[in-house]
Amino acid sequence: MKKLLLGGALLAPLVMTTPALAETSVEEAQRLYREHCRHCHDDGSPHGEYTPMTLIQAQWERYFDRKFEREHRKVTDDKFGGVPVTEAISPEILEKIRQFAIDHAADTDQPMTCG
Ligand code: HEC
Repeated sequence: MKKLLLGGALLAPLVMTTPALAETSVEEAQRLYREHCRHCHDDGSPHGEYTPMTLIQAQWERYFDRKFEREHRKVTDDKFGGVPVTEAISPEILEKIRQFAIDHAADTDQPMTCG
């Protein structure tokens, strides 16, 4: 019995933090941007404030293709145990964030922030 109660107590927080099943792919990408980018690029950040609608599509494409890796591989991310930003983000997640930024850039018909 004791064991059962303990199991329930451990599981409860997991269930509560699981995103709603109905999360759309845009919502997922926005959440990933919030998780992986916002803490360093929020309003008033010394590294610059960046949300999808900060730049136009061509600027995001160029940034991810030519500069993102170079500029972030030496920046450590305390939120993810102090590993470089480029290691804290898997290639699959980075691709989702990249697509989200491009799809919702300033010159699209659906400009967005990261929420
Ligand atoms: C741990 C902190 C950190 C995280 C996480 C992080 N960045 Fe950065 N970012 C930086 C730093 C530091 C720079 C370099 C800023 C500078 O040169 O002053 C930078 C630079 C940038 C720049 C270009 C700034 C410029 O003027 O050239 C963009 C755009 C950017 N980051 C976007 C992102 C995106 C998108 C993510 C998430 C996928 C992200 N960053 C995650 C710290 C971070």
